[in-house]
Amino acid sequence: MSDAPLLDVTGVGVTYGGYVALDDVSCRVVENSIHALIGPNGAGKTTLFNVVSGLVKPESGSLQFRERQYTGLRPDQILVMGIARNFQQVRLFPVLSVIENVMVGCHSRLPRTSFRDFVLGPLGRDKVDRLARERAAEMLDLVEYRGDTKAPPSQMTLVDQRRIEIARALASDPQLLLLDEPAAGMNPAEASQLSEIIRKIRGLGRTVLLVEHNTRMVFSLADEVTVLSAGKIIASGPPSAVKSDSAVVTAYLGNV
Ligand SMILES: Nc1ncnc2c1ncn2[C@@H]1O[C@H](COP(=O)(O)OP(=O)(O)OP(=O)(O)O)[C@@H](O)[C@H]1O
Ligand SMILES: [Mg+2]
Repeated sequence: MSDAPLLDVTGVGVTYGGYVALDDVSCRVVENSIHALIGPNGAGKTTLFNVVSGLVKPESGSLQFRERQYTGLRPDQILVMGIARNFQQVRLFPVLSVIENVMVGCHSRLPRTSFRDFVLGPLGRDKVDRLARERAAEMLDLVEYRGDTKAPPSQMTLVDQRRIEIARALASDPQLLLLDEPAAGMNPAEASQLSEIIRKIRGLGRTVLLVEHNTRMVFSLADEVTVLSAGKIIASGPPSAVKSDSAVVTAYLGNV
């Protein structure tokens, strides 16, 4: 594991109206690690994900990915750069099938089909479609999705919908995967299966930033844990140190 931070968030501030959602938040995510972000409801975890993925523009602070400043880039540019995410409230396309939803994630990585290629060339639309379909099937396999791939996602359980969203994010071949409460609604067996999938993703050289209320899962899985409370970072470090930090126990762990 290299020590260079893959993601470097420095002094980020976000307010909604007069409400301070993030206050001078700094966080370094080491390449090829599993880094957990925990804290009480409303602490600002999803807001920080929205900042890192470009959905929310911070009023102050800076963002660096692979030592490149990317503050102000659009979400689609950030995806191409190598940061993909799921959503706490699952956002799959209801009119597409499961596999088509994942194929959407391949879009940023597939060769562009020029008009000439489309009409004459070997790399026509069919080939691009086949490549995307193959990659999508591989990603569904990686997240151990065993359901129907041709049906719409609304027919699947919420747990399967979460798997499909992770597969869609992985389809863009991200260096950094942001997972917002991926184990929500999972039973202990499903959560431990998900832990294995997350380890497998790290084994493929990826880095995972994980927001999760399942603290048992977090403390057994994460290399590093950062704790947010009321928009501020109150602790960051290895799980053993964070678990016994008195400020963390008072603000969060005492209540979960
Ligand atoms: N678009 C918005 N407009 C106004 N307030 C918002 C908006 N998004 C989030 N907030 C507020 O900012 C605070 C942080 O919200 P956020 O969703 O980041 O918390 P969270 O840590 O992800 O919580 P949870 O664990 O419940 O998902 C909350 O008080 C929330 O109500
Ligand atoms: Mg949230």
